[in-house]
Amino acid sequence: MAAGGRHPEVSKGWCGALVLERRLHNMTSVEQSIQNPAVDPSLLRTSVAAPIAPPPRLLMGPGPITVDPRVLRAMSAQLVGQYDPAMTAYMNETQALYRAVFRTTNAATLLVDGTSRAGIEAALVSLIVPGDRVLVPVFGRFGHLLREIAERCGADVHVREVPWGQVFTLEALEDAVREVQPKLVALVQGDTSTTMNQPLEGVGRMCHRHGALLYVDCTASLAGNPFEMDAWEVDVATAGLQKCLGGPSGSAPISLSPRAVAVIEARRSVEAGLRADPASAEDTAPAGLRIRSNYFDLAMILDYWGEERLNHHTEATTMLYGARECARLVLEEGLDATVARHRRHGEAMLAGVRGLGLAVFGDVEHKMHNVVAVEIPSGIDGDAVRAELLHDYGIEIGTSFGPLAGRVWRIGTMGYNARKDAVLVTLAALEQVLRRHGAPVEAGAGTAAAQEVYA
Ligand SMILES: Cc1ncc(COP(=O)(O)O)c(C=O)c1O
Repeated sequence: MAAGGRHPEVSKGWCGALVLERRLHNMTSVEQSIQNPAVDPSLLRTSVAAPIAPPPRLLMGPGPITVDPRVLRAMSAQLVGQYDPAMTAYMNETQALYRAVFRTTNAATLLVDGTSRAGIEAALVSLIVPGDRVLVPVFGRFGHLLREIAERCGADVHVREVPWGQVFTLEALEDAVREVQPKLVALVQGDTSTTMNQPLEGVGRMCHRHGALLYVDCTASLAGNPFEMDAWEVDVATAGLQKCLGGPSGSAPISLSPRAVAVIEARRSVEAGLRADPASAEDTAPAGLRIRSNYFDLAMILDYWGEERLNHHTEATTMLYGARECARLVLEEGLDATVARHRRHGEAMLAGVRGLGLAVFGDVEHKMHNVVAVEIPSGIDGDAVRAELLHDYGIEIGTSFGPLAGRVWRIGTMGYNARKDAVLVTLAALEQVLRRHGAPVEAGAGTAAAQEVYA
């Protein structure tokens, strides 16, 4: 024990204390007392934190949004075992529901456990063999994410960019595909960072004409904007729950065309120790083809969701309950009606912010229905406005990333919050805060403009 009764590591100063604290944080108190018998007892003292009681919030940013109470209720249901017939029936139902949400007949439609990024990573690591040529058209932050993940998968990545606030024409995409001759085109549909919605009609057919597969990240756009997986010949699509589907983040619906499944099946391996017979040759992917992730190996995940139900991870049951309820909500309302609801409330919000005299960022013709990027007026402190909205009104809106950080506010009208009252309350609160900050806003102009859309 060092002078003053302190543990020697702690006595090294705040740096040592930090290291020790980090280590302690990762151990149970029993492990701590075994491994650090001389530790200062005050470091081990813990208090029982209060129960979770989040402040009431209206989440009107680019997602996550306020979760539909029906989804929360579904997620409070008790667990059943991983292979309980009730559970496997829920899994089958969830697959069928998401086929309808993606508008596909793909048998390989399921959930990847994890946030939307898990779905992206599963798709790309399972499709890309190191060295494969991949084309990534980038029109915002999430295109850069696809590039970064494809690079980590060892792809030979070729990027084409348009300025933030714009989208690609089909001709520009085809020119790039002709030049690069990729195995895979990885494209975002709705890039939340810019709010732009990339038109996809014709893109899949064009990719197939040139021998490429098409992967689409529709996390932000699915169920709020048209998405036609089969009609648009999309090979792989991934999403998340926390935007227009009205759920929390943590589950990534994914769908794969037979063409994509064939590519992944050629890389299939089965973990040793699963089958009664020792692994046969057909259970092991040829050298160099093995998928470089175990958790995100879609061939193994397909085996788990398929008839054989070969064990992989333990399905995140509570997230599956939530994902299933999200899809039920959309399909009960009707997919077209859900998209129309997002269009209507999106138009009302767009009219409302314009009514407040605010300029809208980007090519509005190509904006997603469910989110609008509003330019922060000069002389207004954007973060202070957001903080005031949150603290005084309980309303959250977002800013953006990279070149748009601090330049725009992003206001979402999605999922459970694609509602008239949510739109009007947000506009009324924004007006009040803007006035307090000295912006020349006409009283009632925002809500009046929105009401005209609703009339
Ligand atoms: C288009 C898009 N892709 C991917 C992601 C990443 O999602 P997650 O944070 O759920 O992993 C987001 C999140 O906002 C997104 O908007």
